[in-house]
Amino acid sequence: MTGTATPTGTRHLDQGIAPDRYARGWHCLGLERRFTDGKPHSVPAFGGKLVVWQDSSGGLNVLDGYCRHMGGDLTQGQVKGDEIACPFHDWRWGGDGKCKQIPYARRVPLRARTQRYATAIRNQQLFIWFDPEGSAADESLLPPELPGLTSGKYTDWVWETEQIEGSNCRELIDNVVDMAHFYYVHLAFPTSFRNVFEGQQATQFMESKGRPDVSGGYGSEEFFLKSEATYYGPSYMINWLWTDYKGFKTEVVLINTHIATGPDSFTLQYGIIVEKPEGMDDETAAFIGQKYADMFGQGFLQDVHIWKNKVPVQNPLLCEEDGPVYQLRRWYEQFYVDVADITPDMTDRFEFEVDTDKANEFWQDEVAANLARKAEEDAAAEAAADNEGADPALMSGT
Ligand code: FES
Ligand SMILES: [Fe+2]
Repeated sequence: MTGTATPTGTRHLDQGIAPDRYARGWHCLGLERRFTDGKPHSVPAFGGKLVVWQDSSGGLNVLDGYCRHMGGDLTQGQVKGDEIACPFHDWRWGGDGKCKQIPYARRVPLRARTQRYATAIRNQQLFIWFDPEGSAADESLLPPELPGLTSGKYTDWVWETEQIEGSNCRELIDNVVDMAHFYYVHLAFPTSFRNVFEGQQATQFMESKGRPDVSGGYGSEEFFLKSEATYYGPSYMINWLWTDYKGFKTEVVLINTHIATGPDSFTLQYGIIVEKPEGMDDETAAFIGQKYADMFGQGFLQDVHIWKNKVPVQNPLLCEEDGPVYQLRRWYEQFYVDVADITPDMTDRFEFEVDTDKANEFWQDEVAANLARKAEEDAAAEAAADNEGADPALMSGT
């Protein structure tokens, strides 16, 4: 059924079918340093796996993980010279995808070539270009370099990886426009919320403050957050966050990136750097970085819990305060069609500001009622109301 109404007039829930292809574009495989130990590394991606290794010039190479001879698992092979050697019969594959040597054979078969992926390093992370149509990598579409990253402005990366099973990665993308879930799932008031989509970029601008009635959120009304989060292509988001807690201001950069591992699974990675406050020693700064990473980690887990239990919806039923879900999905669609089939409505500039007044009016009242009830309960139990000590948790543009 493709319509939205059933014969009884109730709304039809169209779960659709997960796409059978993966997004064209640059995909981040994680921090570069993870791959520079001279060993082969396995990265699940696009329904299979990739092998990543470093050659003697320091460059990182990425091939399909399965050997074209008899299907051996190259990620369990060895790096020999500049090549990856298959554990099954020792065929040697170069970073250009060509079979360079078969030690036991007189000659290498003509056109012995496997799938290779063009690589790039940005922000100390490894990227690969993926396109089912086989186009050449487009370096102009790489995300921007973070200014100040190499000059010591920030703490070192805290980098985390989560395997998500049972969800298509579009669930993660949908959050770009989802104003209301920040209150219900991430326990904050989004006081200002705007989206801009253009070309390969989709941005969310948000301002928020904490909910004082629940722990696990910001925990304090005095915790203000300004967030600007941009997807550069289908899977790599840079989220600039400026926090203000009683005048103590911090700049945090959060990377939120994912790679589809199957039609309903993906690997989520997020990395955090925090601007080092003037005069703070490295150890304390690293501690603060880890603290923020824990907080954002909590935020992602709040989303993950929802994704795990929800179903996909092709035809969401929306209210005015929901943000431009359909427009965002059209933007996202550009990465799943052939380049020749990209239409202007996928890439034209689109701007939308969600009116958050009505929502915040209601939420303020709800929170006030919750606080009043809590105070009553506390009084009844003759326990002093004491919300101190709760860690303020932050959330990101997701
Ligand atoms: S399967 Fe890889 S060398 Fe035979
Ligand atoms: Fe979220």
